[in-house]
Amino acid sequence: MKTKKVLLQAKQVHRYFGSLAAVNDLSFELYEGEILGVAGPNGSGKTTLMNVITQVIPPSKGEIWFNDQPIHNLKAYEICHLGISRTFQHTTVFDSLSIVDNMIIGAVFGKNRKSDQPSREAVREILQFVGLDADEHLLAGQLKANDKKKLMIAIAIATKPKLLILDEPCAGLTTIESKEIIQLIKQINQRNITVMLIEHNMQVLMNISDRVMIIDHGTKLSEGTPEQIWNDERVIETYLGRKKKKGVHL
Ligand SMILES: Nc1ncnc2c1ncn2[C@@H]1O[C@H](COP(=O)(O)OP(=O)(O)O)[C@@H](O)[C@H]1O
Ligand SMILES: [Mg+2]
Repeated sequence: MKTKKVLLQAKQVHRYFGSLAAVNDLSFELYEGEILGVAGPNGSGKTTLMNVITQVIPPSKGEIWFNDQPIHNLKAYEICHLGISRTFQHTTVFDSLSIVDNMIIGAVFGKNRKSDQPSREAVREILQFVGLDADEHLLAGQLKANDKKKLMIAIAIATKPKLLILDEPCAGLTTIESKEIIQLIKQINQRNITVMLIEHNMQVLMNISDRVMIIDHGTKLSEGTPEQIWNDERVIETYLGRKKKKGVHL
């Protein structure tokens, strides 16, 4: 049974781009140890929400608390130091650097003291965990798309996060490659890392998540267990309906 300690709380968060409310009065809680799946139509504000939590862009209004501490006024690196790490929808690694050097740079960003930096052994252990240990001296630019995603996840783990936010880590991958990434996410969660996962494939999301939040027009349309979401009339009407008719079942 997973704990119900609140790890992250968003309170009436807004983010405007001009007159567009990309995130609109959104409140939710994330519990320690869980996998919270996030889905919603294209342009519904999922990435903006992740950006606001990690201070890639600041919220226009509202509060975000992490481990009982307000974080909505902090800098991105301070958020990372507190224990929130993330990957991006578009793969972001340094192609001209080796896998190991990518890891070390990620780890440096995640630590506030030089002495906190992970050892070579720790870096190797993480590379082994994601399945890239045999390639550690390759340049990141030489990796296939799915291995680059694994490297991006490995870099995020090297900062020793309590919460890992993943923005569509399976985008552009084949079904088999996606399964590998999903398996990896489950293993990460088993290492006591709480996960917030944006994933557009509802079947995948429903299977991996403890709870799911559906976002529409920047606001929360529904939140609950996969079963509750699957049976929520509002979600079926505005988001699942068409797919459900096409035969996507749990
Ligand atoms: N930097 C930006 N400047 C202006 N509009 C943006 C910016 N980022 C996102 N948007 C707009 O905000 C809305 C939400 O986008 P996004 O968060 O990327 O949605 P999702 O990740 O759910 O597809 C979209 O209408 C998008 O065009
Ligand atoms: Mg997005």
